[in-house]
Amino acid sequence: MVIEDGRIAWVGASRSAPSADARFDAGGRAVIPGFVDSHSHLVFAGDRTAEFNARMSGASYTAGGIRTTVAATRAASDAELDANVARYLGEALRQGTTVLECKSGYGLTVEDEARALRIAGRHTDETTYLGAHVVPPDYADDPAAYVELVTGPMLDACVPYARWVDVFCERGAFDGDQARAILTAGAKRGLTPRVHANQLTEGPGVQLAVELGAASADHCTHLSDADVAALASAADTTVATLLPGAEFSTRARYPDARRLLDAGATVALSTDCNPGSSFTSSVPFCIAIAVREMGMTPDEALWSATAGGAAALRRTDVGRVTVGARADLALLDAPSHVHLAYRPGVPLVAAVWRGGELVAGAA
Ligand code: NIG
Ligand code: FE
Repeated sequence: MVIEDGRIAWVGASRSAPSADARFDAGGRAVIPGFVDSHSHLVFAGDRTAEFNARMSGASYTAGGIRTTVAATRAASDAELDANVARYLGEALRQGTTVLECKSGYGLTVEDEARALRIAGRHTDETTYLGAHVVPPDYADDPAAYVELVTGPMLDACVPYARWVDVFCERGAFDGDQARAILTAGAKRGLTPRVHANQLTEGPGVQLAVELGAASADHCTHLSDADVAALASAADTTVATLLPGAEFSTRARYPDARRLLDAGATVALSTDCNPGSSFTSSVPFCIAIAVREMGMTPDEALWSATAGGAAALRRTDVGRVTVGARADLALLDAPSHVHLAYRPGVPLVAAVWRGGELVAGAA
């Protein structure tokens, strides 16, 4: 591979490589595209160890736990939140992630949502307005008024800092009609929709995502045949993003990637890194689960965690090793990407480049 001005300029057999100013021999180790993690919630404070601990003793996950993190996040300073984002982004980077989407959703006031997106925007261009994460306690008696806020003044305050709009369409969060209103309002202001869909129950989220031309329907854990067919028919528009860290950490059944792939859907794989339902920043961990538990081949899982994530962010400049792509690369201490699943839990990422610059590890 030849890299020039941060982009991949040539790919082929080493014996026919053109000359270059500097050379690096990977010594038989695999180089893969940097992971594109298209779904995370990193602007938060506090932790939910107790909730996780209770779940591992038999309690079940509910959307309501989000409110615990909302209280801690509102109470945190900008500097604390910024340091948290930097910390988890650094973790992700060292594990091979070179593009990471980041949502708001733990502020749930006009000021706190705008602040979350402003802070996220210092670390990534892929910022998502998730004012509709859950109805905050202050609006418990009047959810309609909260939807008015999310589609009105909160949207106004967040638009300058966001690229995407998202909603948690789920029992205990927002129903189909509310989700439609929120996504449509965001789209009118230039934010492209993505949807937390069918995570805990077989709700209307997937159908809504497809109908509105959302970039992704995320989770897709509980799907009807009609949902699978809808995602397959929208394979060029709406990516099914699977987040197995959430099923791991909520002790739920994993989404069926095989069913989606066989139907022809485009599938992405991401971490959903957040303190409640999936506190992992590790794409390799998600790949190992996807291969072992969700019916994906190692090739499919790697594609979904790179080019698939890029598709979910409507990007073609990242997530692939092709001429013209940004030189975002991970070097594995392994002869092939199959080892990401074959050697689960082993820190195989030896070095990471973004735009041709070494940003983690040592080459
Ligand atoms: O993607 N599902 C909604 N949001 C997060 C969970 C957030 C939380 O529990 O704090 C998710 O799983
Ligand atoms: Fe999420």
